[in-house]
Amino acid sequence: MDVIQVQGPARLAGEVAVVGAKNSALKLMAAALLATGESVITNIPRITDIALMGEVLRRLGCEVSFTERSKTLADVRINVPETLNPEADYDLVRRLRASICVLGPLLARCGRVRVAHPGGDAIGSRGLDMHVAGLARMGAEISGEHGFVIAEAPSGLKGAAIWLDFPSVGATENLLMAAVLAKGETEIDNAAREPEIVDICTMLSSMGADIEGAGSSKLVVRGVAALSPTTHATIGDRIVAGTWAFGAAMTQGDVTVTGIDPAYLEIALDKIVQAGGMVETRPDSFRVRMDNRPRAVDVVTLPFPGFATDLLPMAIGLAAVADGVSLVTENIFDGRFMFVQEMIRLGADIKTDGHHAVVRGRERLSSAEVRATDIRAGAGLVIAGLLTDGTTVVRHAHHIDRGYPDFVSDLRGLGVVADRVEAPADPEYII
Ligand code: EPU
Repeated sequence: MDVIQVQGPARLAGEVAVVGAKNSALKLMAAALLATGESVITNIPRITDIALMGEVLRRLGCEVSFTERSKTLADVRINVPETLNPEADYDLVRRLRASICVLGPLLARCGRVRVAHPGGDAIGSRGLDMHVAGLARMGAEISGEHGFVIAEAPSGLKGAAIWLDFPSVGATENLLMAAVLAKGETEIDNAAREPEIVDICTMLSSMGADIEGAGSSKLVVRGVAALSPTTHATIGDRIVAGTWAFGAAMTQGDVTVTGIDPAYLEIALDKIVQAGGMVETRPDSFRVRMDNRPRAVDVVTLPFPGFATDLLPMAIGLAAVADGVSLVTENIFDGRFMFVQEMIRLGADIKTDGHHAVVRGRERLSSAEVRATDIRAGAGLVIAGLLTDGTTVVRHAHHIDRGYPDFVSDLRGLGVVADRVEAPADPEYII
């Protein structure tokens, strides 16, 4: 059981490089399933979730090998056999919720699929109804038993008109990957528009798929008989980049982030400007500088191009030390504010009602021992530790490893005294 400890007060200053986006790379690896033969994906982050996705693909029958390019970066080669095993078991799916993204490609390739239902997690209930309803529109018969989602389309999927109730990232990706090999045309309306959706569309198109409208809320996919393997480079991670941007702003620091198109973070960077920061952008990097105490700003999370829910812990961190009162509204996940209790342990003045948080900024927080509940909350708590007057210990650091390659080295590179240490396991029950 590892913990990360940081010494406050500290200011982030220097340059940090971000590598490929977790939430793109995971789906690009699943997209490789759509073509027999070897696909290569570069700019892959070296994080736990990617290693787990490699394991998922191996259990489906693929050969998967990673070539390390640096401490944080790898390429992955995925050799996909003609015949795949269309079953992903609970043991893996519970460790990597994103493995549900094999549902669409496996159904398209095998005509049947059995994937364990991932259930909810620390940030919310996380339904699958839109994935399932969309596949049903394409002719799949869906059932569920013993904790599995079972989808069958023995005579193949057919193009259909699909309207999503909400622009779900995961449902858009699953339906897109199912549609590229379906017979006829599929229209996905109210589709997600995240940069990661554009990335997967680019990779699928280079495999021979016929997709129109990537990055808009209407995707039109004309199914083709087969796709071919490809080589594709993952786009940079906007959430990791945004973490450093907010880290710089809340610690009154000066950080240049490379390896990212700042257009993916327009609203987030604008919030930093509203808070009094200076932001300079270049095509694949940006710099954030904050010379004074940040001003309070209100934040509302929304699907892209809105403010990303994954940056909510960073927005709360900024608000916690800003001058004034900020209202932070979460619209995507019902459990995202769970980590607020840990921020309160660090001395933040926050009141929540499930969807809103009222944050009254304080000059400084107070160091404490806290617990990461998910990837982003974990990173947010470590950075909030820099706003305190002592050593902050963040337990359950394995959550952070799921999304941030070598977080501690990056912090040190930005001038922070940070360590990763072994700690005794938490007692399971506290009476
Ligand atoms: N939802 C449903 N039914 C569905 C699908 C979604 O009710 O069929 C609900 C979810 O329960 C949630 C909301 O819709 O409340 C949004 O879910 P969405 O499908 O958009 O999210 P996701 O695909 O499960 C991805 C990222 C998340 C990121 C969200 C939103 C991956 C692996 N995960 O999740 O990233 O927060 O999009 O941008 O791509 C993270 O990286 O830490 C993370 C949680």
